Amino acid sequence: MDNIIIFDTTLRDGEQAAGSSLDSQEKLEIARRLEKLGVDVIEAGFPISSEGEFRAVQLISKEIRRPIICALCHANTEAIDRAWEAIKGAAHPRIHVFLSASDIHLLYQLKKSREEVLEKAKKMVAYAKSYTDDIEFSPMDASRANRTYLYHIIEVAIDAGATTVNIPDTVGYSTPTEFGELIKGIVLKVPNIEQAIISVHCHNDLGLAAANSLAALCNGARQVECTINGIGERAGNAALEEIVMALKTRYDLLHFTTGVDTTQIYKASRLVSDLIGFPIQPNKAIVGTNAFSHQSGIHQDGLIKKAITYEIMDPKSIGLSSSNLVLGKSSGRHAFRERLAELGYTLSETELKQAFLSFKEIADKKKEITDRDIEALVAEEHRTAVVTYHLDHVEVTCGNHSLPTATVRLIGPDGKYLADAALGTGPVDAIYKAINRIVGIPNKLTEFTIKSLTEGIDAIGEVLIKIESDGISYTGRGASTDIVVATAKAYMNALNRLLSKKNTNKEDAS
Ligand code: KIV
Ligand code: ZN
Repeated sequence: MDNIIIFDTTLRDGEQAAGSSLDSQEKLEIARRLEKLGVDVIEAGFPISSEGEFRAVQLISKEIRRPIICALCHANTEAIDRAWEAIKGAAHPRIHVFLSASDIHLLYQLKKSREEVLEKAKKMVAYAKSYTDDIEFSPMDASRANRTYLYHIIEVAIDAGATTVNIPDTVGYSTPTEFGELIKGIVLKVPNIEQAIISVHCHNDLGLAAANSLAALCNGARQVECTINGIGERAGNAALEEIVMALKTRYDLLHFTTGVDTTQIYKASRLVSDLIGFPIQPNKAIVGTNAFSHQSGIHQDGLIKKAITYEIMDPKSIGLSSSNLVLGKSSGRHAFRERLAELGYTLSETELKQAFLSFKEIADKKKEITDRDIEALVAEEHRTAVVTYHLDHVEVTCGNHSLPTATVRLIGPDGKYLADAALGTGPVDAIYKAINRIVGIPNKLTEFTIKSLTEGIDAIGEVLIKIESDGISYTGRGASTDIVVATAKAYMNALNRLLSKKNTNKEDAS
């Protein structure tokens, strides 16, 4: 029982983060990556919440065969039916029923008595059990619930058929000692607890999610719920990479193992950040760009002498490349493919062809192409998955004595060239207006950020754009050594995602 079940909820709680909007193909792509990473359970979504969410969970259930695929639902028959409908094609389906358990939630939100909630938990867990054996029950806001009542509702849920009981610190209020004690209390006071796995689900409002989760494991929990890069509601959830690497690095102290292939962590982190459009803070534990960078002279000196002086983890253990091999202008398709394989990317022939063209384009402008350049390039391929309009040409004139003007040519859905030009307050505004004149979909630009992805004067710049249409936010990214091109690519990426969503909604309605 020293193996910890890693329950990844990036696609459910992670996706609840404000500003996130993944489409079903993007969710599937993340699920594929999670399977490679070796997580035990993928919480694929909350099927009752929307048609698109339902379809994404269904798609993941059909394709991803090794991990358990879990669907979240409220404690009511309609939500449970919908969850089951979405995951019934999975090789290993799990229904996850949640219901508030704290007096604060009962009084102000549910307006129900403890007895009513207890009865509901019992009935709805039993109802879910009629579909499948693997049932998880979460008494929401458990860390603020009355202890005796919490023990009782857990006991009732297990009697009704729950095989996993998940203890959420829903509002990230607990502290490691307190949360550890809570789990210990459950182990000691719930009479039938040995019939279920204890899981924990910690939020990061006080920055304690990973610490609380570890304290829970030390006190009897054997499943931990977490997300890549710690994304999730508000301040997010416990970060998968932090939990897994803490267990691995401090095995001497904690004695727990996981089935995660840690060398896949970095790639999973980049993919999620890329698709969801949330940059990773540089000092983020494990996956931040500075996590393995050593700045001060004394640290660098120690590191050269022996890595262990200042490095508690080997960067290779999370999948960071140790290679010094640098590609350049003269590198051929074969070397490029080899490097991709070493970095763990397997592209289809079409993707490879496109990526190689982009590689050559960059190689014309940059002397040396590093692994970071290649990663930026592959990420670019991911971004062009659903393309209605393709950017063919962009040109901007600007300066202190000229009116910023952008000329844009796109290739439309029917393969026709469409060109237009516009003036703007600056180059970004001009590009935005010129593209809008062609595509003609009302939207508002809400965010524009630019950062350097690689080092040096010839660095690849990445632009992140957020647009809003009908109250939904869409993220777009574009990378290039030319920031004007990166801007146009990012805007096209966001627009294509908007169009793809609108097209899917139309299909659903017809
Ligand atoms: O934070 C929470 O309580 C949840 C539950 C649905 C498990 O996300
Ligand atoms: Zn949560």
